[in-house]
Amino acid sequence: MDDRERLAAFVRRLPKAELHLHLEGTLEPELALGIAQRNGLSLPFPDVDTARAAYRFRDLSSFLNVYYAMTGVLRTEQDFYDLTWSYLTRAAEDNVRHVEPFFDPQAHLSRGIPFGILVTGILLALEDAEEHLGITSRLIMCFLRDQPPEEAMTVLETAHRYRDRIAGVGLDSAEAGFPPERFSDVFARAAAYGMRRVAHAGEEGPPAYIAASLDVLGAERIDHGVRCLEDPALTERLALERVPLTVCPLSNVRLHVVETMAEHPLKRMLEAGLLVTVNSDDPAYFGGYLVDNYVEAALALGLSEHDLVTLAENSFRASFLDEATKARHVEAVRAAAAG
Ligand code: ADE
Ligand code: ZN
Repeated sequence: MDDRERLAAFVRRLPKAELHLHLEGTLEPELALGIAQRNGLSLPFPDVDTARAAYRFRDLSSFLNVYYAMTGVLRTEQDFYDLTWSYLTRAAEDNVRHVEPFFDPQAHLSRGIPFGILVTGILLALEDAEEHLGITSRLIMCFLRDQPPEEAMTVLETAHRYRDRIAGVGLDSAEAGFPPERFSDVFARAAAYGMRRVAHAGEEGPPAYIAASLDVLGAERIDHGVRCLEDPALTERLALERVPLTVCPLSNVRLHVVETMAEHPLKRMLEAGLLVTVNSDDPAYFGGYLVDNYVEAALALGLSEHDLVTLAENSFRASFLDEATKARHVEAVRAAAAG
């Protein structure tokens, strides 16, 4: 067994939660092709190999163009079920025990797909995962930050009748030039509805977007947040307040947030005492699922087994599970690491 295989076996053994995962970003070209065929549509690419070969991105927005184009094949409740279920079965292989996935309603509502269709397909798959795979979940609905906040407010109201099945709201899509403040009313309304709040910040946007996500949106968790290290005072605050950061190493390399994995700030973030977690973001596009993200980061940055255990424990600590359940999962991580 080489180092990579040994590390992968160790990481796979650890129970883990995944907290930064876009369901639309798990659409593998093979599944997209099958869904396109049954819906009488064509893929934005002539075949699966051409699609994969085209997955070389300059930056976040060049990726998002492909991501939104591929989501165009998703039409029916069954499509959203299959998308979610195929991710969950793959996550089970990685020993993911809990997931808090994102979905982007506006990417589908804008194509005329009713909210009830997509959310029902997703929720049925999440229920089946709990029953058949033992994977628990909390679903998070993201607003597209490059679209008008009024549209997000309409989506929030549309989602209201599903509010006991949608745990929280998030903010994603093109970041630079779209500061969090625009969504203060939407997030305040979501909070009034009792929803949890997270936001992408500090991926391609500046550290100020991280601070504003906390102060203006009331975000309880920051998605990415890797650029926090540019601001030492902010880094200290995030560490002191134990603000969870959902880091996505392979995504950051593929979208040129960092040029190589060896330059990735994950290890420095751990050393700064931050509550960091490792996640796969859009695994169908970035070359790996959850275990791959742990392993590639560990190999390039020289993470120890102790670091990997901390990251797995953090994934539960940073989740929206209740404290007793978090404690049980953290114990299970320790037992798996020792055993
Ligand atoms: N939507 C899907 N993946 C994303 C990412 N990494 N950043 C912002 N929006 C996204
Ligand atoms: Zn993301």
